[in-house]
Amino acid sequence: MIEDELISPAEEGHLGYSKIDVDLLNEIQEIIPAGRLLYKREDIERYSHDETEDLRFYPELVVLPESVEEISRLLSFCTQYHIPVTARGAGTGLAGGALPVFGGIVLSLERLDRVLEIDERNLQATVESGIITQKLMDAAAEKGLLYPIDPASKGSCFIGGNIANGSGGPRVVKYGTIRDYVLNLEVVLPSGEVIWTGANTLKNSSGYSLTQLFIGSEGMLGIVTKAVLKLVPKPKHDMLMMASFPSNELACEAVGHVFRNGIVPSALEFMERTGIEWVMRYDDVHFDLKEGAQAFLLIELDGNNTEILMEEAEAIFKVLDAHQAMDVLLADTVAQKEALWNMRRRMGVSVKSNSVYKEEDTVVPRAELPKLISGVKVLGKKYGFGSICYGHAGDGNLHINIIKGAMSDADWATKLKEGIKELFELTVALGGTISGEHGIGLVQRQYMPIKYSHIHLALLKGIKQLFDPKNILNPGKIY
Ligand code: LAC
Ligand code: ZN
Repeated sequence: MIEDELISPAEEGHLGYSKIDVDLLNEIQEIIPAGRLLYKREDIERYSHDETEDLRFYPELVVLPESVEEISRLLSFCTQYHIPVTARGAGTGLAGGALPVFGGIVLSLERLDRVLEIDERNLQATVESGIITQKLMDAAAEKGLLYPIDPASKGSCFIGGNIANGSGGPRVVKYGTIRDYVLNLEVVLPSGEVIWTGANTLKNSSGYSLTQLFIGSEGMLGIVTKAVLKLVPKPKHDMLMMASFPSNELACEAVGHVFRNGIVPSALEFMERTGIEWVMRYDDVHFDLKEGAQAFLLIELDGNNTEILMEEAEAIFKVLDAHQAMDVLLADTVAQKEALWNMRRRMGVSVKSNSVYKEEDTVVPRAELPKLISGVKVLGKKYGFGSICYGHAGDGNLHINIIKGAMSDADWATKLKEGIKELFELTVALGGTISGEHGIGLVQRQYMPIKYSHIHLALLKGIKQLFDPKNILNPGKIY
């Protein structure tokens, strides 16, 4: 896809935004030194896309602020001159949330990348929003603590992006999403004012939660500059097993039964065979996949007592057995565990590298997962697309990678939209929603009315109007 094909300013109107001319640029240099302003095509190229398909929108200017004060002055300036500002983390997003569809400024948080404090007394971390998630996890682990929210891109994504999208990952099933870990946020509002949204406490019942409002707001209400996050004690032991099944449905049915047997794994991931095969090809690695197996579950348990973990594993074996598991591999070594986790985490990029694709991030109540996966395949037959599904089955969160396969270019460009619409209608009919953890951004916004009423969308717009009356922050997203 070429830049501006999806939304062109002409289509939506320029909304009266100012172009950044030499005079405005000179004034911006008074706020952020010239060495941290990028505008040459080759310098801004990497800020023109994220990991969403092959979408590309060039900003007019990229700024690399180093302090809250700079961001505050810049936002106040941009509100005054009506310049759009799109905040950007690491650019690992899958819904186009960080794409500057109206041009203007991309504000990269890459230079605000410090862990400010690991508070061992209160089990809290204070970080700047441009920190890489893995770095926070490492800093916590050094003190025997765990920050459990580890999206597949944990080695490169930023905490700020995770907050903007309400991110999850494999451990949500036991530990919750990032929503359960953010205690307090420092946010710069479009006016330039700086607020803290909550308190550094484990509970807070004093009015509406601005903290929760900013989580998942995709940089449209304010720019998060610092976060205070809850940590938990790091469990001493974990176990990892992989089970193979003759069908997707049997694997997905087993998922619900694990919980009904009283066990909450620390991760419960689903993968289709083709997904694993594509990782093997892409990374040139090998896994012995049982012949005839179509679907796999990766199940992790964690805790402090190995005997209890063994008992739980035994109970899980029984459930898997009752669902016709063909075999169950227990990872013996740290290296084996890492290889299995790597394989699961690399599935997204492997699929991307192999085919023209579209990724959907459906989520349903866990027990409806078998119906969702069968429905995906039925829709694939009806519309002529292939699909590779994997994801966080323990949460009912299925990443559906729609593969172009034999579909014609014309059908891919037009008919597919109908298919995706029907897929989301199915998801909603099963009690689910259209994104579990990737956000709405640019590419899913057209589907929001499938899930949300007029009234709901009007409330979202009203909130936006209150925080950002001149609509400078990340315009063109969510609704
Ligand atoms: C994953 C990303 C795509 O789970 O959310 O791999
Ligand atoms: Zn995921």
